[in-house]
Amino acid sequence: MPVITHIEDLRLLAQKRVPRMFYDYADSGSWTESTYRANEADFQGIKLRQRVAVNMEGRSTRSTMIGQEVAMPVAIAPVGLTGMQHADGEILAARAAKKFGIPFTLSTMSICSIEDVAKATDRHPFWFQLYVMRDRDFIERLIDRAKAANCSALVITLDLQILGQRHKDLKNGLSAPPKLTLPNMLNIAGKPRWALGMLGTPRRQFGNIVGHVKGVENMGSLSAWTAQQFDPRLNWGDVEWIKKRWGGKIILKGIQDVEDAKLAVDSGADALIVSNHGGRQLDGAESSIRALPAIVAAVGSQIEVHMDGGIRSGQDVLKARALGARGTYIGRAMAYGLGAMGEAGVSKALEIIQRELDLTMAFCGRTQIDQVGKDILLPGSY
Ligand code: GLV
Repeated sequence: MPVITHIEDLRLLAQKRVPRMFYDYADSGSWTESTYRANEADFQGIKLRQRVAVNMEGRSTRSTMIGQEVAMPVAIAPVGLTGMQHADGEILAARAAKKFGIPFTLSTMSICSIEDVAKATDRHPFWFQLYVMRDRDFIERLIDRAKAANCSALVITLDLQILGQRHKDLKNGLSAPPKLTLPNMLNIAGKPRWALGMLGTPRRQFGNIVGHVKGVENMGSLSAWTAQQFDPRLNWGDVEWIKKRWGGKIILKGIQDVEDAKLAVDSGADALIVSNHGGRQLDGAESSIRALPAIVAAVGSQIEVHMDGGIRSGQDVLKARALGARGTYIGRAMAYGLGAMGEAGVSKALEIIQRELDLTMAFCGRTQIDQVGKDILLPGSY
């Protein structure tokens, strides 16, 4: 067992332990993957200012996101098929987040259902991410189920009415549960921990959907299902009715453009997430960290601005915070931890990121995350 010291160690271990089709699903972007790569690479170009001889005692990474106290400004992003990275993955990640004191967001396309996660975490509030589908009765029921499960925010994803093409998913024939073709069986045979875990759980399908939508007993491939069920007509009017039906906090995910950010403010949402869906949708879009400053400048005084995409370290969290993101989200870093070591791996990912955040903040001469602003960055590097 390797000594785990950074997120890359978890990624490498997950790659060994998770069947190829699910590892590839998490670790890929659409088409040429240029946006996927830029999300990570653009963090590297932003430089921090080293300060010395500043009292570094009494440090804290505690903050708030949408008024909720967080141990650090990081939430778990909604990630489809998390329960295929490890048996009962969503439950394990939600437990790790609860113990750590940060928000967990459950994807509509999760394997464990809303009800399963609520039960397994003693109804500790989590956030629910909503995809808008053609079947509005189903969406209404989904919103009501999230309410009944004590969810404390609804994250509406706006950038996936249609699915960006990810070559590997098509080539691997991605489906949940995986089809037992010869190549899949051979691949799974080399992942005994994963397979044993899966044999020990009943949760192997899309738990929020199968059994809740008429005629959907088995979803087959994600791409085919998305094409049939996701609503390509989604618009700002839909956000309005969802907001009314939900009646609680709303976070809009998938904003990359200043004009859309202004519309998000008009919608009355509590926060927006600057996001290009981890480089999985519009290949060629700007990285999230590059898109962030203009959006903060335009609407930051009217709505809480969050960001996701490319966060693999506490240094990344600090840079995003310095550029005005009140909160950040980790998707892949969580999925790698889960695939590598289950709940302990997610906890490890969170510990690694918090430690990096805490020490880097101190090197920049700050002791409180809430004191961090643009002045910790080298001018001209962002
Ligand atoms: C969304 O569910 C995705 O696959 O990116």
